[in-house]
Amino acid sequence: MLRIAVFGSGRGSNFRAILEAMDRGEIPGATVCLAVSNTASAGILDIARARGIPAVCLSRKAHRDDDGFAGAMLDLLHAHGVTHVVLAGYLKRVPPAVVAAFRNRIINIHPALLPGFGGPGMYGIHVHEAVLAAGETVSGATVHLVDEEYDRGPILLQRRVPVLTGDTPETLAERVLAVEHQLYPEALRKIAEEDRSH
Ligand code: GRF
Repeated sequence: MLRIAVFGSGRGSNFRAILEAMDRGEIPGATVCLAVSNTASAGILDIARARGIPAVCLSRKAHRDDDGFAGAMLDLLHAHGVTHVVLAGYLKRVPPAVVAAFRNRIINIHPALLPGFGGPGMYGIHVHEAVLAAGETVSGATVHLVDEEYDRGPILLQRRVPVLTGDTPETLAERVLAVEHQLYPEALRKIAEEDRSH
């Protein structure tokens, strides 16, 4: 059984899509047991609370140093029996000690076709601005494993999304987001399937 902690910093539409896919029985063998955010006002915490899922705000600022912060995060994940971490719009770096402890079990979604248009500074609307500025005719979404480098871990699943004439960063973002909402549950379904076969 996958026991997933979802990390997010913002509105949480991917989190909602994952929960709704689970409600429909599309991700057998997986449950969300914890939601974590670096900011108390994040939508994902409200979505979790409304469903009775433990929701925790964990901020680096509340800890003396990086080690203290990483230790608190590991304690929290272990206390909830978390097996996998799913990043859904989490804008902070996952501490290296957590990446090491959850090696190949931290998953991220990125709103472009990695390895293009990823890395530091490439988040949110900046990604779509860069895709349009480069004159791309195709963008997409990527689900990948998280390692120590931003947006560089092994790719699990990718889907292409056309760039249309007259697109603005906002219209492109919206088209990509709709695909993300399908792709993330699909990727988690595969991970849960593989987990069961081991
Ligand atoms: C998504 O576009 C995702 O690809 C990126 O951050 C955004 C999160 O949106 N990593 P939401 O909070 O899931 O609505």
